[in-house]
Amino acid sequence: MHVEELNGTNCKTYLLVAGGEAVLVDPVRERFETYRAVLAERRLTLRMILETHTHADHLMLGQDAVAALEVPVAMHEASPSPLITRHLRDGDRVQVGGEEIEVLHTPGHTPDSVSFRIPGAILTGDTLLIGGSGRTDFPGGDPRAQYDAVSRRLFALPDDTIVWPAHDYKGRTSSTIGDEKRDNPRFAGKSREEYVALMASLGLPFPDRIQQVLQVNQSGFEANEVVFPRVAEVAALEEIDPAELAARLSSASPPVVLDVREPEEFTGELGHLQASLLVPLDALEHRLPKLAGYVDRQLVVVCRAGSRSATAGAMLARAGFRRVLNLRGGMLAWVAAGLPVQR
Ligand SMILES: [Fe+2]
Repeated sequence: MHVEELNGTNCKTYLLVAGGEAVLVDPVRERFETYRAVLAERRLTLRMILETHTHADHLMLGQDAVAALEVPVAMHEASPSPLITRHLRDGDRVQVGGEEIEVLHTPGHTPDSVSFRIPGAILTGDTLLIGGSGRTDFPGGDPRAQYDAVSRRLFALPDDTIVWPAHDYKGRTSSTIGDEKRDNPRFAGKSREEYVALMASLGLPFPDRIQQVLQVNQSGFEANEVVFPRVAEVAALEEIDPAELAARLSSASPPVVLDVREPEEFTGELGHLQASLLVPLDALEHRLPKLAGYVDRQLVVVCRAGSRSATAGAMLARAGFRRVLNLRGGMLAWVAAGLPVQR
C-alpha cells in the first residue's frame, strides 16, 4: 500500500493507495478540493474517509462535504459526531484495492483515538508522535490509557514498522516503532505513573479556539448555526454517571432528560432514555423559550458520547437554567452500563 502525505504542513493528511483505490486519512476541511483534484488527476477511486480521532486543531469535513461524498466517513464508535456513517471497533478491517487496513483502538488523547495498521507501517494519529505523544488534557483524555495503548499495543509491533504520525512540528515525516521505543522521551524507560506525572506537568494552554474547533467537529454543526459556549462555560458543567441518573430517574422527583442528538440517532442503534425530550443541538437556541418551565428543575443533557451534551448544557446554563447536569459518556456509557433504552 502506497502512503503519501498531502498537506506538507505540521498537520498531516494521508492518502493511502492500493490497486487503483484510495482512502483519505484525516482530511482538513479547507483543503478538500485539493484532495479531490489529486484523486481525479491520478484516476483513483476514493473508497472511504478515515479519521484517527476527533481533532481539535483543524476543522474536519462539514455536513456539505460529507453529504456530497458517496463514500463512508469512518471513525471509532466512541466518536461524538452525528456525521459519521461507519463506526469502527478495535480489530475491524477496512478493504482498499484488495489490501487491508486494520483498526487498533488506541485511546488516551481522546476516547475515540485509533491507529490504522497497513502492511509494514502504522498511522498513529495523535497517540504516538515522533519523539512525543498527543496531549491528554482535553475532555475525555486519559494519560493512563494512552501509556497502555502505546506501550502494550503500538510497541508490540515489529521494530521496523514505519510510524506515520498525524502531526510533526519539526518538519519530520516518519519514524519507526523501534526508534520510538528507544528514543521517545515520553515513553523510553518511563513507568506508567511517571508518564501520567509527565503529562500532568505539561501545562499546555487550552484556548477558546480549540474549544470552538472541537465543538464543531464533535457536533457536526457549523459555528454560524450554533452559538457555541466558551471553554470555561463547558468546564463549569457538572456531570452525572449513568448509574446515578438511573437511580434518580426512579426516585420521587426525577430529573428532566434532554436528548440533543439528531432524530435518526434518537431512534437508532443506541436508542434513547424513556421519557427523554428530543431537542437536537442545532434547534436548542430556538427552543429555549419552550423549555422555560424547566429553569429550576434538574435537567440532564444527553447525547452520543457526552460532548454535544456538554455544549448544550453550557448553553442552557448561560440561558439561566440553574440545575443542569451532563450525562458522562452519553448513550454509549448508558448502554455499556446495561441500562434500559427505547427505540
Ligand atoms: Fe488531535
